[in-house]
Amino acid sequence: MSVRIIDGGANSALAARVATELGVGLVNRIVGRFPDGEAQVQILEAVDGDDVAIIQPTCAPVDEHLVELALLADAAKRQGAASVTAAIPYFGYARQDRNGGRAVAAAAVARMIEAAGVDRVILVDPHSRAAEAAFRIRVQRESAVPLLSKWLARTVPAASIVVAPDLGAAPLAERYAQALELPLAVVRKHRLSGAHVETSGIVGDVRGRAPVIVDDIISTGGTIAAAARACLAAGALGEIYVAASHGLFVPPADKRFSDIPVRALVTTDSVPLAVQTGLAVQQVTIAGLIAAALTNPAGGHERPAAVAETQSVEIA
Ligand code: R5P
Repeated sequence: MSVRIIDGGANSALAARVATELGVGLVNRIVGRFPDGEAQVQILEAVDGDDVAIIQPTCAPVDEHLVELALLADAAKRQGAASVTAAIPYFGYARQDRNGGRAVAAAAVARMIEAAGVDRVILVDPHSRAAEAAFRIRVQRESAVPLLSKWLARTVPAASIVVAPDLGAAPLAERYAQALELPLAVVRKHRLSGAHVETSGIVGDVRGRAPVIVDDIISTGGTIAAAARACLAAGALGEIYVAASHGLFVPPADKRFSDIPVRALVTTDSVPLAVQTGLAVQQVTIAGLIAAALTNPAGGHERPAAVAETQSVEIA
């Protein structure tokens, strides 16, 4: 099955890697801005009758990337594309998946993507089932856990313990623990604000073990730093490993990570690394995972780690 790949502009390196995996070129397009700030997109090649995939994580600037995705989908449909798949490896707004006076932003954004003409969405380790369920169109959920587990298996010491930094991450951490054949602990976390959290203990025995703290997203680093401190206070070794599917590294993530003894930090290339972080981050590419999802729409969920390709990115 041949797919035409459009780079949405949010992560051109990943789009190029996906195209390389599939042995195709990128569709010639314009993603720009009018002088007043409006997004301007144009598809410069015929795609009529083609299955088109737009690679676009909705990472920062979130709203700009979201609108560019929607406009590219609209343009592709108006050019007669047979189908449009939005590969959104990191889905911004996914964490706003509950109401209670607030917008259920995940659902509102899903409506916008659907209205633009997207037929299918590919997500990688979406934040929650609620975020995934926000879409009414087909969602193909992929996971980077096998890829990241494979990397961790080569890296962490035998006396390690997988740590979920909060209750929400426990199912994800359970999968890491199974893959790595390690015990599991869960930190009790309470969120005080978008950038601040506090912890009140750990369920599980981390004494004398190296914590392998895993999460779906690292944003400001508050969750990982708080979990690391909780582990150290509970007697864990001062040698911490961190893995997350999506490394946003929003300030003050660099400061928070420099305050804890992180031996290794691994994430994927779902979003471009913020070059100002000052963190040494290992990146595992998910290009093969997305390419496989595009060519096997009947697939989904976890894929074997055989498609892994690791690259080291040292951020100055
Ligand atoms: C929240 O439930 C998520 O799974 C992450 O733990 C959170 O988004 C991380 O944010 P931060 O790095 O700002 O603590």
